[in-house]
Amino acid sequence: MTAVTTATGFAEPTPSAALLLLGQKADLASERGVECPGALPAPDDPGLVERARAAKEALGDRVFVLGHHYQRDEVIQFADVTGDSFKLAREAAARPQAEHVVFCGVHFMAESADILTGDHQTVVLPDLAAGCSMADMAAIEQVEEAWAVLTDAGVSARTVPVTYMNSTAAIKAFTGRHGGTVCTSSNAQVALRWAFEKVGGLTGDGKVLFMPDQHLGRNTAVEQLGLTLEDCVVFDPRKPGGGLTVAELEAARMILWRGHCSVHGRFSVQNVTDVRSRVPGVNVLVHPECKNEVVAAADLVGSTEFIIRALDAAEPGSAWAIGTELNLVRRLAATHPELTVHYLDSTVCFCSTMNRIDLPHLVWTLESLVEGRVPNRIVVDPEDARWARAALDQMLALPGV
Ligand code: 13P
Ligand code: SF4
Repeated sequence: MTAVTTATGFAEPTPSAALLLLGQKADLASERGVECPGALPAPDDPGLVERARAAKEALGDRVFVLGHHYQRDEVIQFADVTGDSFKLAREAAARPQAEHVVFCGVHFMAESADILTGDHQTVVLPDLAAGCSMADMAAIEQVEEAWAVLTDAGVSARTVPVTYMNSTAAIKAFTGRHGGTVCTSSNAQVALRWAFEKVGGLTGDGKVLFMPDQHLGRNTAVEQLGLTLEDCVVFDPRKPGGGLTVAELEAARMILWRGHCSVHGRFSVQNVTDVRSRVPGVNVLVHPECKNEVVAAADLVGSTEFIIRALDAAEPGSAWAIGTELNLVRRLAATHPELTVHYLDSTVCFCSTMNRIDLPHLVWTLESLVEGRVPNRIVVDPEDARWARAALDQMLALPGV
């Protein structure tokens, strides 16, 4: 971050960086930043809950608020529906009557909602700085280059791209153009089976290019499809040729993009060992964005929706250690007093970008809509939207999801 020195002699961030930190105005050099005309309510305004309630009531059926499970409690209380990224995509697509969809989640989710909703609807992200560091690990130019590498190696005709929901609309569009599908952590297994079927089945020599989360791709291939770790190679977009030889690409079944989640990537096998020795009989349940060795050491793995269902069905008195984002784990602990719920690693914290959406931003968003102003509208380029929709529709049409 650059800095300027003020009259007081203290270094302060440059205006754009400072405003980004405050979640206001826009950083025109990127899509991140918030155009926030008018003041955000003060975070300590004691009337915020009442203001949000009043604005939501005034909007009535004109607004539909979606909340991802990683959102703060102060925000989730105003969600009309909560869910994982798959459920929220479906919910967004199923609300044609709502004039405004307020997406309390991160940027790629709001983009998908814009693609899946009608032209008469607007999708709003209360703070445009709510991005995703994993999604940022794959840029469309890098993905196009990677495809050229696979083409030069003679394998692209036998490769189906599968992109995790946590990716930009441009990458979803790339996936749609090349006959692939989007997936989420709820349906990655079905999506990969479908993709391999397109290129000769699991025992053939077809391949999947999985972006951008190497861990979800590897965990699904190895733990659920019976492929081996040796079947997986990692394509590093910062290295020439992805850092892979033609022979390695030829032999691979899963070509995994070198990307990861900065929150889930921190859980370790040591965390699992430690909690098992501290809490005898504990059930270790982790999200598939965790590293493969962590998933292999755990008892159960699944999406945020799966984690919630597992705890809802758990034996009273049982102990659980959960490896996912902290807002969700705290909420699970609070809503399940009959269980002992531990956080798998106390040094792993909130997803900082999910946490950008707070009550002041939600109040500002809802009150702006009441005043007839649509703030922070997410609009996907129409050509990207057309092809991304093909990949999203393919996901929604997958068998049994
Ligand atoms: P799910 O909502 O698919 O479980 O994914 C978690 C996540 O990291 C969303 O960013
Ligand atoms: Fe992205 Fe990880 Fe945060 Fe999900 S939890 S939004 S994958 S950084």
